[in-house]
Formats: sequence, C-alpha cells, structure tokens
Amino acid sequence: MNTVKNYIDENKERFLDELFELLRIPSISADPKHKDDIRKTAELVKDHFDKIGMENTEICETPGYPVVYAEKIIDEELPTILVYGHYDVQPADPIELWDTEPFEPVVKKTKVHPDGAVFARGASDDKGQMFMHVKALEAMLKTDQLPCNVKVIIEGEEEVGSENLGWFIERNIERLKNDVILISDTSMISNEVPSITTGLRGLSYVEVKVTGPNRDLHSGVYGGAVANPINVLSRMIASLQDEDKRITIPGFYDKVKDYTEEERAKMAEAPFDQKAYNEDLDIAKEEGEKGYSTLERTSIRPTLDVNGIWGGYIGEGAKTVLPSEAQAKISMRLVPNQDWHEISKLFKDHFESIAPESVKVEVNIHHGGQGYVTPIDSIEYEAASKAIEESYGKTPIPQQSGGSIPIVALFEEKLKSKTILMGFGLHSDVIHSPNENYGLFNFYKGIETIPLYYKHFTELKKNQK
Ligand code: BES
Ligand code: MN
Ligand code: MN
Repeated sequence: MNTVKNYIDENKERFLDELFELLRIPSISADPKHKDDIRKTAELVKDHFDKIGMENTEICETPGYPVVYAEKIIDEELPTILVYGHYDVQPADPIELWDTEPFEPVVKKTKVHPDGAVFARGASDDKGQMFMHVKALEAMLKTDQLPCNVKVIIEGEEEVGSENLGWFIERNIERLKNDVILISDTSMISNEVPSITTGLRGLSYVEVKVTGPNRDLHSGVYGGAVANPINVLSRMIASLQDEDKRITIPGFYDKVKDYTEEERAKMAEAPFDQKAYNEDLDIAKEEGEKGYSTLERTSIRPTLDVNGIWGGYIGEGAKTVLPSEAQAKISMRLVPNQDWHEISKLFKDHFESIAPESVKVEVNIHHGGQGYVTPIDSIEYEAASKAIEESYGKTPIPQQSGGSIPIVALFEEKLKSKTILMGFGLHSDVIHSPNENYGLFNFYKGIETIPLYYKHFTELKKNQK
C-alpha cells in the first residue's frame, strides 16, 4: 500500500513547481490594481481542488474578493475538519529592498535553511502554508487515506481585515459546520523547537487627522503664532505612552487578563535569546512595557504603535512651510477580553479630548478584530501536539503569538468550534517584509504533518464518544 509519506516524497518536485506558479500571481488585496490577479489566483486555487478530487468546489462571490470553497464528505458519521487559509498577499513594497523579484520565486540556501528556502511575497504568508493543506489533501485522497470529512475555505481579503468573510460565514453557517478549524498561518519557535500557537492578539486600527490653518502657510510669516498640526500630532502621540511604556488611554487596561506568577514562569520556559534578537534587528537595546519580558510584550500584553505618519513637505531639499494638516495610522494590538470596538471608542474619545483648541481632530476607526486563545486541554489541541510529535520527534511547546487573524474569534462565535493554529513558519520568514521566504524543510514538513493531524483528531474524536 502506498503511504501518504511515500506519495509526498514521490511528488515533491511537482508540489514545489505548483507553488511557484501560485506565487507568480501578485494577488495583493490592498491594491485595487491587482483585482484581476486576485481572481486569477482564486481560479487557480479552485482548479487545484478540482484536480485532486475535492467536491462541490466553488468560487463564492462576496461583496469583496471571492472565497474558494471545496469539500470532501466521506461519511456523515465521521468528524469534519474545516481548513482556512488566505490566497491574498501583502504589497511587496519597498520593492528596491528585495534581493530578487518578489513575484518571481527562487530557491536559495540560507543560514536558517541550509536545504533552501523559497523567496517570494506570500511564500510563507500564506500561499506556501495554505498550499501545504492542498498537497496534504492530495496525498490523502490519492492514497485513499483521508480518515474524516474535510471542508476548505481560502479567502482573498485576510491582509485587509477579512471584511467580507464574516458576511460569507453568516450566509453559510450550515455548509461550514465542523468539529475543528485548522489553520496554518502562524509560526513556530524554530525547526528544532516546534511549537503550537495558542493565542492571537486582537487589533484596533485607526487613522487620525489633525487640521490647523485652512491652508499651508509660510513658516516665517506665520510660524510661532499658529499651531503646527505636525508638532501637535507628535505631542499627542507621544503622550499616549508614559515613561514605563504604558498606554495612557483611560480604561485601556481595565479588561486585560492578568497572568499568575506560575503561568508567567511556565511561559518563560520557552527558549529565547535576547542578544540574538537584538543583533538580528541591529538594535542596541530592546524597549517595552516595564515589568514584562520581550516574549510577554509580544504576546500577552497590548500595544500601541504608529504605522505611518505624514504631512507637510517631504520632497527633495527644503521648503519652509507650516502645514495645514498632519495624519497618522495607528494600530493597537489587543489581548483576550479587550473588545476591539470598546478600545477603538476609548481611543477616539481620549484622542479628541487631548487635542488643543488650536486644531481640529478627526479619528476614523479603520478595522479590527478580537483576540483568541486556544485551550490546550482539549482533543483539538492534543491532536496537533501528537501530529507534531510524530513528525518532529519532539513535543511541541504551546506559545501565544503577537499577530492577529481576526476571523478566528468570529469562527468561534458563529460556528461554535475551536481553531487550532498549526503554523509552520519561522520569524526568519520575514513575512510582510522584503525577501519573505519559506523553508523547503517547513513546506514539506507541513505537508507531512497535516495528514497526521487528520489521523489523530479522528482517533481522539472516536474515543471520546
Ligand atoms: N499570518 C498573519 C498573522 C500572523 C503571523 C499571526 C505570524 C501570528 C504569527 C496574517 O496574515 C496577518 O498578517 N494578519 C494581520 C492582521 C490583519 C487584520 C491585517 C496582522 O497581524 O497584522
Ligand atoms: Mn497570514
Ligand atoms: Mn499577513
């Protein structure tokens, strides 16, 4: 009997070629210029599902970009796994910082990946990781070893906040019914220290605008007598954090979950090298909320960061101008129990209240999402732990992540099932940055591990009955 593992080994090269084809399409959801590329990518993903023998495959239209759906129901009595992933990618900017073309994938050896890594936008986030599921399904279907039912949704708007996926879910509650949701769109500690992501942060994304005089002014003729919106905005932003890097918005921390000393000690067991971290980023010293470690600051504590700030003259040379307006994009990463609507409102009220009379302030709430935690004393988690243990030969460490996948909380609310974040990326994949890459080891290990999840989950579910 051909095993899943043999099938993967025999088809390795083709799997990689197919991933390359997917990576060549610039499916950038943030840029309307790439509308046709988005559609092409959705069609290619659907074709793959058709080719491997999935059923009821469909490009589902939404008010935004389409969701690709596929399923294979072998027996209503068996458990059903719902796989989620995204086929859209981040913009490649700044393009000049890429060593190779972002949409012309190449394999190069690196220090982290002596066997090679694929360099391309989306290689890890999330085309490479999403495609592992397609190929794992192919391997199970072609060797007749799919142990349970499976449904798959691959969306095209994750990188812009999944705004229409909620719309799709609400209209397809019955169709999407499942026993567990499986996602590969996160990272592990390292290939030597496998881990499972047990938490995601929530997000509140806002845009602010400070307006001073009704037009740009001569900074000599008016300067000193009229509020400069950039100066004002800078002061307002600076005041949002105190000396201990705590956020000063009243009520901001009210619902933040406190962890016991015991829980914190457990988290501190995860291997972490501050010196290597600083060297990697070329910073002399880390910085963050007083009283917390780097790992805590990037997982269980909320943050506030300016993502972009602009106004005035930014062209070549100098122009003496007192600008009429200044703007900034600000993101707050939230932790479980903080509600993103509530936090966005607190931000808006506070930001408006601290504005001096000399300017007008506008706060626009962009998008957001709730955080999420996966309980580790569940069969959903146990199946992932067993699968990784079987393929890596080591028990994975549970670890909360700092990133966000806003749809996960909505899945739980609407579909009433738990999500398992079995991601195979690494921090060195530099997702969203130039030279994004994904290790060949990780790609193939993922394809190998996913069928083991199906196997263990089905077994555990049977024994539970
Ligand atoms: N795959 C990431 C999220 C992620 C990465 C979680 C690494 C944990 C570890 C996802 O594609 C992403 O980038 N999410 C956005 C949120 C979204 C609303 C734009 C994020 O976290 O900024
Ligand atoms: Mn992603
Ligand atoms: Mn992303």
